[in-house]
Amino acid sequence: MPRQVKIFDTTLRDGEQSPGASLNTEQKITIARQLAALKVDIIEAGFPHSSPEDLHAVSRIAQEVHGPVICGLARAMPADIEDCWKAVQYAEKPRIHTFIGTSNIHIEKKLRKSKPEVLKMAVEGVKLACSLCPDVEFSAEDAMRTDLDYLAEVVAAAIEAGAQTINVPDTVGYTMPWIMAETLAYLYEQVPALNNVTVSVHCHNDLGMATANSLAAVQAGAGQVECTVNGMGERAGNASLEEVVMALKTRVDVFGCETGVDTREIIKASRMVSSLCGFPIQPNKAVVGANAFAHEAGIHQHGMIMDRETYEIMKPEDVGLTESVLTLGPRSGRHGLSQRLGELGYEISGEKLDEVYQRFLAVADRKKQVYDEDLAVIMQEAGDQTPETWRLISLQVVSGSAARPTATVRLAREDAELEAAEIGNGPVDAAYAAINRLISQDPEFSKKTLELEDYAVRSVSLGTDALGEATVRVRRNGEEAVGRAASTDVVEASAKAYLNALNRLMIKERRAAESPGM
Ligand code: KIV
Ligand code: ZN
Repeated sequence: MPRQVKIFDTTLRDGEQSPGASLNTEQKITIARQLAALKVDIIEAGFPHSSPEDLHAVSRIAQEVHGPVICGLARAMPADIEDCWKAVQYAEKPRIHTFIGTSNIHIEKKLRKSKPEVLKMAVEGVKLACSLCPDVEFSAEDAMRTDLDYLAEVVAAAIEAGAQTINVPDTVGYTMPWIMAETLAYLYEQVPALNNVTVSVHCHNDLGMATANSLAAVQAGAGQVECTVNGMGERAGNASLEEVVMALKTRVDVFGCETGVDTREIIKASRMVSSLCGFPIQPNKAVVGANAFAHEAGIHQHGMIMDRETYEIMKPEDVGLTESVLTLGPRSGRHGLSQRLGELGYEISGEKLDEVYQRFLAVADRKKQVYDEDLAVIMQEAGDQTPETWRLISLQVVSGSAARPTATVRLAREDAELEAAEIGNGPVDAAYAAINRLISQDPEFSKKTLELEDYAVRSVSLGTDALGEATVRVRRNGEEAVGRAASTDVVEASAKAYLNALNRLMIKERRAAESPGM
């Protein structure tokens, strides 16, 4: 019998810490439902003490998503742990995941404590969590740069205090597979009680080793892997769920382990996370990239025709890959739309379906054939609850090889309408210049300039009439926001994305003004 390895998904917590990724509660619930369909064992739904919004999102997931354990993160501090419990208590299977930094640099520079003080905080944190919740996980943050004897001491004390899962994170993606294996072997030797709990691993990808290090940990006895869909996460991200799961499945001969994941749901989860978070997947990404199952070279294609296994170690259908389906058109009805959305993992009805249907019709009107990728973008836009303080009413551009690009933009700010025309180096530049002129009259934030940090446009699906999705990152006075919008007209998409970023930024600025120093 293969040994069972638990998959702990932290897309909604560590993954959401990716720079620029920000999901609202409804989007988090949509992803959590897909993670449940994927049959991960544990969903880390957020960090409840970090904000009231996060607490609310975790408690909604705890109430509405069934199947996996629903877990929240908490520093080893009473207020964090209590807030975490407030959020996860509603779950059928709740978990509190508490952590504290154990490496010298974390203890001295971040926590400014002594080793005995940190040990005491870890024990008290675990005890408090255990008094509230039947399932408690403890993480020794930056374990892979922690002095080994101290790590063993903290781990032993956390087990003694009641933790049933001990996580050994490679917080900064520093370790190597054989060092991970040696570390776990050392811990098992020094702390025999580790055999009575689940040993977990949580690897970051700073050196591109997250999957390899996670697999080395499994080989050394770990029974839980923490990972994210598409490898999203802080900096270079976390171990990617699809890589870990498919490596364990494909090389069961080497690992002798299995997971409970329904791998046929992988592509659906990957595309949903990518589009709701606005993180395109690189084409050559293992397992879920657009080229992961494409065979270009003639010699490979010949081999594939003879026997797929000549060049294919996984079957596309095992990860749920089907041809991009030409789904719907302008004459498709609500029923057809809601059925296809359901197949893609988005369950909507009532008013929400009406709203999405109107958006769908607007797209279908312009491009006739609506693909799954277009539907994902429509769902992302429909889920965006950013209040439209500034709204695009109309945009007209004059551009071409013989014309000086000029844009005339009409915007609404609450009840007022304003119009400006500007020239630029191209139509997008001209449109942004016109928008800048109008927003510089903003009564709230007139004195600060908006800096454009990043701007990109990508084609969502196939054809010259494809939706173009613009992503824009702006900064003002130390606050940053990312905006997105899609249209068959890329200049319009660019203008709307810029305004979306501005509207998000204004919310952040208002919050910062309300509670300075937070
Ligand atoms: O990377 C890390 O160490 C973490 C912990 C909170 C588990 O995310
Ligand atoms: Zn992490």
